[in-house]
Amino acid sequence: MSGSPISDVRRLEYRNVTMRFAPTRGRDVLTAVRGVSFSVRDGEVVSLIGPSGCGKSTLLSIGSGLTAPSEGEACVDGARLEGPNAEVALMLQKDLLLPWRTVAENVMLGVEIQGMPLPERKQRAQELLSNFNLAEFSNHYPHQLSGGMRQRVALARTLAVDPHVLLLDEPFSAVDAQTRIVLQRELAQTLQRAGKTALLITHDLAEAVTLSDRVLVMSRRPGTIIDEITIDMPQRDNPIARRHDPKVNDYVARLMDRLDIAHASLDQVPAGDAA
Ligand SMILES: Nc1ncnc2c1ncn2[C@@H]1O[C@H](COP(=O)(O)OP(=O)(O)OP(=O)(O)O)[C@@H](O)[C@H]1O
Ligand SMILES: [Mg+2]
Repeated sequence: MSGSPISDVRRLEYRNVTMRFAPTRGRDVLTAVRGVSFSVRDGEVVSLIGPSGCGKSTLLSIGSGLTAPSEGEACVDGARLEGPNAEVALMLQKDLLLPWRTVAENVMLGVEIQGMPLPERKQRAQELLSNFNLAEFSNHYPHQLSGGMRQRVALARTLAVDPHVLLLDEPFSAVDAQTRIVLQRELAQTLQRAGKTALLITHDLAEAVTLSDRVLVMSRRPGTIIDEITIDMPQRDNPIARRHDPKVNDYVARLMDRLDIAHASLDQVPAGDAA
């Protein structure tokens, strides 16, 4: 196994979660996810994959406490989430940096809210920015950065608050292949070093396999969990080493098969929930 300190404690749990969105012009109620139950154990990294629109971001938002599910519940450390929780940090699919703040000020936002003294939070921001090769841009503004750089700032901002649970929505989708490799390693090492619990959304199957202990596959909308694959490989903190392991290709092929099934599940979508 990975050697990572995964305990039996359930850090983040979804219990029979259903999410319906109210009708909008000319449309019926939209059921985004239906009857979703799973948990992420303390120190575990789980990836969530599935077709576009199947409700992955919706589940992350529910796990952060920002969105209340229509039915069921999300729990952190056994307690039902009733709103945002200090132990959980969410990195949104869109980076949403504050345009009037510099890069360093954006990274410091969460720790500023937490009340960390200025010298300490400046140091925290500088460390993270240098880990993400952004040190020389700390005084730039978001509009002066590329999409990939903005995403790196958003990831640094999420890690800055040092949460127990990280919810990451396609954290590397806008970065180039080379930077992606660097960031994947940085993230994997950070998660391992600090024993973080993470739920990660990605469309990149090899990324899911190399970064995770487990991968959950969702059906088309209304999204349900249709499969779960445990990644039985060492070195979860070293995605580059994992990528050289021929087992990665086997796992990716299995996930592709599952996604094929997920796409086929379109036929089973009730009429009111289609489109
Ligand atoms: N606030 C909202 N109001 C109405 N419908 C919504 C809302 N948020 C999401 N939806 C709908 O719920 C469904 C699931 O959306 P979600 O963003 O969770 O999908 P996703 O799996 O993250 O997709 P992608 O891979 O494209 O990011 C979509 O049909 C979307 O249009
Ligand atoms: Mg999404």
